[in-house]
Amino acid sequence: MESVKAVRGMRDLLPEELERWQSFEEKARQLLARYGYQEIRTPVVEEKGLFERSVGEQTDIVTKEMYTFLDRKGRKLALRPEGTASVVRAYLEANYFQKRKISRFWYLGPMFRYDRPQKGRYRQFYQLGVEVFGGQDPFFDVEVMALMFYLVNSSGVTDLTIHLNHLGCAQCQHNYLGVLQKFVRPRAGFLCCDCQRRLASNTLRIFDCKNERCAEVLEEAPLPGNYLCQVCQDRYEKVHTGLKALGLSVFEDKRLVRGLDYYTGTVFEAMTGRETNAVAAGGRYDTLTMALGGPAIPAVGFAIGLDRLMALCSETSSKLPVIRAIFLGEEARKRGFLLLEELRREGLRVETDYEERPLKNHLQTASREKVVWCLILGENELNREQFVIKNMETRRQYEISFNGAGQKVKELVC
Ligand code: HAM
Repeated sequence: MESVKAVRGMRDLLPEELERWQSFEEKARQLLARYGYQEIRTPVVEEKGLFERSVGEQTDIVTKEMYTFLDRKGRKLALRPEGTASVVRAYLEANYFQKRKISRFWYLGPMFRYDRPQKGRYRQFYQLGVEVFGGQDPFFDVEVMALMFYLVNSSGVTDLTIHLNHLGCAQCQHNYLGVLQKFVRPRAGFLCCDCQRRLASNTLRIFDCKNERCAEVLEEAPLPGNYLCQVCQDRYEKVHTGLKALGLSVFEDKRLVRGLDYYTGTVFEAMTGRETNAVAAGGRYDTLTMALGGPAIPAVGFAIGLDRLMALCSETSSKLPVIRAIFLGEEARKRGFLLLEELRREGLRVETDYEERPLKNHLQTASREKVVWCLILGENELNREQFVIKNMETRRQYEISFNGAGQKVKELVC
């Protein structure tokens, strides 16, 4: 019979790999708390309309990549392709805008996009995201980008550059789109079918097209950053200066438009020296709360692609060392069982297979599985109210009495 495999584009995160993820997540939680961010968990399933109204009906994410389905009552639902829209919905639904001036949230979880699977691109992938509501000041943009930078840094990935651009306010965007359409219309014949449609409905999305001929048409195109009003220009300068003052590596990328419709001002992507795909990205979205039926609340955020980040970081986990316990004889097993409970209460990591077999055989298994510490308890040790801890690398053995065992073992192995 054919064996069952994981669905294309989806993968298992096995314990060996997850140790690295968990070690990063622990550091991330601490860092986020220091910046005043609170965790929020939203459902994986949302109304399809939520993403049409936020990410945008014409975007690749909504038209080509979303997992959608009807439930038993015929409701049009979707697996979330990203986290921002859900957090905005939750923020509005829980009326946070009436309770606090500023709300800072973070989230971590799986997102789903029917993308073409390849290195760093999965159909189920994980994002750690941050969204701040209620802040208009450019310092909020700098704060979230700095946080993104330091979060990525805490994983051990340090060669990060922030690609920065500004898409302008609603008025700037309106003016710019007029100029862009004027430029593209006479060249429409060179565009792919999708982009000809985009020209009429959502011209900016032509920048997302992977087609070489469309990219050629846009080579000489006017760019949004050159059509900013004075207020937007000043804001952009403040953000840029703020990032520089922190000593962060910044690249001004005039062609960066991002693939989601909700951005209104600052947009950014975090690139590393080793990969062409962004490891994190985000921006300001001051009109999204209104598009989802709420009051006008300025907001800014980002999401880190954890699958991509974890593939880049070589940091090994700082988890507790494993102590493999070996019991020789029934009496040792009974006493040993209690000893292990005691050691675990002290915060040590101990495990055993409870099997009765020769010591040599146990030690061979431990060696093969690269276990460094063995705890050996046989009849002789039992009679002397002690046990042995053996370092499998140095071959040294230490006799430890039952009395105050936890503290002594801790000093030895930690
Ligand atoms: P995004 O650029 O679509 O933005 O995704 C953010 C990050 O998620 C990307 O930079 C990448 O690292 C990761 N990512 C995206 N698609 C995949 C995939 N198929 N496989 C693996 N990783 C992937 C957003 O999602 C926005 N919600 C970010 C944001 C938050 N903007 C404001 N607040």
